[in-house]
Formats: sequence, structure tokens, C-alpha cells
Amino acid sequence: MANEEENVKRKLAKLFEVALKVTVPSVVDVEPLVAACTGKFGDYQCNNAMGLWSKIKGKETEFKGPPAVGQAIMRNLPQSDIIESCSVAGPGFVNVKLSRNWMAQSIQRMLIDGIDAWAPRLPVRRAVVDFSSPNIAKEMHVGHLRSTIIGDTIARMLEFSRVEVLRRNHVGDWGTQFGMLIEFLFEKFSNWEDANEAAIGDLQEFYKESKKRFDSDPDFKERAQKAVVRLQGGEQKYRKAWTQICEISRNEFNRVYQRLGVQLEEKGESFYNPYIPAVLEELTSKNLVEDSQGARVIFLEGFNIPLIVVKSDGGYNYASTDLAAIWYRLNEEKAEWMIYVTDVGQQQHFDMVFKAAKRAGWLSTDDNAYPKASHVGFGLVLGDDKKRFRTRSSEVVRLADLLDEAKSRCKTTLIERGKGDEWTEEELEQTAEAIGYGAVKYADLKSNRLTNYTFSFDQMLNDKGNTAVYLQYAHARICSIIRKSGKDIEELKSMGAIVLDHADERALGLHLLQFSEVVEEACTNLLPNVLCEYLYNLSEFFTTFYSNCQVVGSAEETSRLLLCEATATVMRKCFYLLGIVPVYKI
Ligand code: ARG
Repeated sequence: MANEEENVKRKLAKLFEVALKVTVPSVVDVEPLVAACTGKFGDYQCNNAMGLWSKIKGKETEFKGPPAVGQAIMRNLPQSDIIESCSVAGPGFVNVKLSRNWMAQSIQRMLIDGIDAWAPRLPVRRAVVDFSSPNIAKEMHVGHLRSTIIGDTIARMLEFSRVEVLRRNHVGDWGTQFGMLIEFLFEKFSNWEDANEAAIGDLQEFYKESKKRFDSDPDFKERAQKAVVRLQGGEQKYRKAWTQICEISRNEFNRVYQRLGVQLEEKGESFYNPYIPAVLEELTSKNLVEDSQGARVIFLEGFNIPLIVVKSDGGYNYASTDLAAIWYRLNEEKAEWMIYVTDVGQQQHFDMVFKAAKRAGWLSTDDNAYPKASHVGFGLVLGDDKKRFRTRSSEVVRLADLLDEAKSRCKTTLIERGKGDEWTEEELEQTAEAIGYGAVKYADLKSNRLTNYTFSFDQMLNDKGNTAVYLQYAHARICSIIRKSGKDIEELKSMGAIVLDHADERALGLHLLQFSEVVEEACTNLLPNVLCEYLYNLSEFFTTFYSNCQVVGSAEETSRLLLCEATATVMRKCFYLLGIVPVYKI
């Protein structure tokens, strides 16, 4: 394993922890408040002086106010090679300027040990990320695309932080829609057991047709309703038809996952069925479940409707399944953190389910402690007209079509730029996919997930501004600088040294060093856009550096090539975490 390094923020926090203790021994367990800052006086700031002052003022103290407390904190900072200088500003803020030498050496060490040395550390060993989770036979729409993209990034960030992640596809494979689908299958294919994907064709169409039958023919409707009961009762023929339909859907989903480079392990709703009775029994023995109008429900403080866990017809539902899933994930899978990625419309469902789990004593009631569950909500995908994203004929937009279009648009651009003659067909295809799919993902990830976002190919495929295309160009350009220098970068890593004398070299270096704490923040707050913003700023810092510092042919060539390499390395890790395949030449 690579040498692990603590991030800069945590290193400084440790130093300040010592200083705080020495400064005011009477106040114990003060948490050091250290944050990166962009002022010209420092790179990081410690903001404890004011808070401390409010605790000691009026008591016997040598200090006359927050600035004096700040001065003392600064004086009491232990000697350290990471700090170049400190100063106190305003009401006691202690500014820290990092040592340029130490920064340079840290970056160089990362280049030698590999970027994994900068992996954040999280206080969790195992997590479930429940994402994508489309419904069988219904369309996998852009909402599921968002869940797939956001969930995959969260899983990747946690995995990088050495958390073991169970990537769960909680597919809807147990709804009442199955009665209708199964009956329709029997009706349409007398030899239904041999009816495969090719015969059934498009499952969405199949769903629509059967829905039409269901709505228009009372006889069919009745048969369909009986079919659900027979399926849930475990009757062989119905189980078999169900398996067949699920399998066709699964193949379709998997094709999308493969294109997106997303790994998932399916444990659909049906998986949790056998666990529901015991789980409800446990909740009942804890006096959580009660009868209400023929149903079994859980009343929860703060909600004006109860959580229904057994419907009045005796059937289980979405909520009973999710309660069983929480139980299973905690007890069988030993997960400490359960993360659910769905649209914000399901917020209340999860709030209620989590609250019930807290009342059952399954989850910690302290939101900062484990075991815990988090709902990662996201907004709608809108079309150019700012309404729900639909096709012209007002159909739901299919995922596969979107990916096709992104790719083909990219390919056209590449051909227009003459790459058709320069590259092999394979290179052309791969680059178009990397850029096209990357653009779709980045457009989704870059804004705060809670806001709705407008899907626009023109915007996401623009090579200027905060887009994946722009970032791919930036990365490819750095690779080309290194290539064209003709230098062996591996040799430079071990023989040469990084120097951060120029202000723009230093600013770039500082940003590189902050990679680890940014990933940590993105993980802790489950906000991929934080990482996107970091990546975009990194490319901006690089551009400034590259415009003001000559690389190839300069006296500082070795150091600057190493900085280029470090930037490309961090960019690639960001791409990886965002599920984007980097390209090395464009
Ligand atoms: N199948 C659901 C949907 O399409 C999402 C499932 C989310 N996960 C869960 N454990 N409820 O809306």
C-alpha cells in the first residue's frame, strides 16, 4: 500500500489542537476550527480565538480580548516544517502560510508513491450505496440516469477512501404491475416459455400494451389481479413467467450500465420479501406498529400521515420492503452507512423509514454518528423548454438514445476537426464515447444535485466553460506538453525536484495539495459537485500557471514538467471518481 499522508487541514488541526490546550488549559476538548482560505495573508486559517474568548472572558484571564488570544495561539503553535509563517488578523484569526519547500516535497512524494497516498480517511468500514434502481418493465428514464451517475460517483469516492462499498441495485421487481405483465405474456404467446427478448421485443412497449389491455378489459384486469396473488403465493408457472420478464429487463439495464462503466449488484425488492414478516414482528414487539383502518401502520412524530407497512389487503409495500432492507443491510451485511440515491420526490418516504429505524434502535439518533442512513436526493431533469425532459412526441426520453446522440455528436466534431484521417476508427469511436458519455455525466454532476437541471447537448458538449469537454481538452493539452518535451517523466520524478518559487506555481501547488480534503468533503456531505468545482478550478490554476511560466526550454523545465505531471495525475483521479474516461490526445 502506498504511504498514507494525512491531509493538510488535518495536519494543521493537530498542531492547533496542541496550541489551544497550551493557550487555555482550563477549557478542555476544544475542536480546532481550521479552514482553507483565499486571503493574501495565508493559505489556512484557525478561527478559534473568538469562541475561546467568549468562554474565558469575565473569568480570571491574562487576555484582554480575542486578538490577544489569537496571538497566544500563534505563539504556542508547535514547531513544524509545514508552516512557513503565521500572522494574526482582525479579531484573532490565525493565518498560516504553508512552507513552499514542504508543499513541493509533498507533491513530489505523491508523484512517486501514487495518488492513492492522497486518499481521504473516513470513519466507516462498509457502506451500502443504493442507486440506479429502475423498475422492471418500466422505462429507465433520465431520473434513473441521474441516480446511476450520482450514485456511481459517490461509490467511487467512498471506495477511493478505502470504504468497502456494496453497490446495490434495488430494482422494482415486485409491484402489482407483474400480474398484468404475466397475464399479457400468457395471452400473447401460447408458447410463452420460449418467448425470449427477441420475441417480446421492447419491454416498454410490452408494458404499454398490457396496460392498455388492463385499463380497457375488465376480464383481463381481474385475471391480472389474480395473477399477482398467484405469483406472490409462489405458484411455479407464475414465478417462471416473472423470472423471464425480469431477465429481459435486466439485460436491457446491463447494456446501459456497461456503456456507462457502472458496476452494480442487484438485490431487488423481491429479495427482501422473506425478511419482512420477522422485521415487522420486531417492530411490533417494540410497540411501533399499530392497526389503522384495516392497515398496519407506524405513526411518527413530525409527520401528519402514518407510514403504512401492511396494506389493508394484507400485502406488503415499498415501505415494508425498505424497512426489511435496512434490517438486512445492518445485520446481515454489517453496513455502517446506507446511502440512497433517488429523486427528491422520495424524500418523505426515506425520512419516515429512517425515523422508524431510529425508533427501533437500529440507527443512531445522532446524525453525525453511525450506523446511519442518508438520502441523497436530486432534482428533475428539464428540457430546453424548462419542463420535464420529454421527446418531441412527449415520450419519456430513453437513456440509450441519449448516450447514442452524445457519442455521435462528438464523433462528428472529431471528424470535422480532421481526426477521421489521423486516427483509426477504433480510436475515433473510443474518444467519442469517452467525451460524449463523460459530458453527459459531468453536466449532471457539476451542479448542486438538489436543483433541477436542464439537459442540453449544446451546452454540455461546448468546449468552453465548465464542461467535461473543456476539461478533457485541458488534460490532453497537459499530456501533450509532457510528450512534446521529449523527457522521460519517470526519470524526472526520481532525479528532479519541484520548486514553487513563482506565485502561480505556488497557487497551483496549493490547490493540488487540497485534493484529499476536497474529496473528503464531497464524501462526507455526499456532494459530487464539490469535486467538479475543484477539478474546474484546477484547470484554471493550471491555465494561469501555464500562461505565466514557460515550461519547455526554461531553466525551471524539470520542476515545471513535474508540476504538469502532478496536475494531470490529479485531474485523472478526479475524472476517475466522476466516472469519466480521460483522453490523452484530442
Ligand atoms: N425503484 C425505485 C424508483 O424507481 C427506486 C428505489 C430506491 N431504493 C430504495 N431502497 N427504495 O423510484
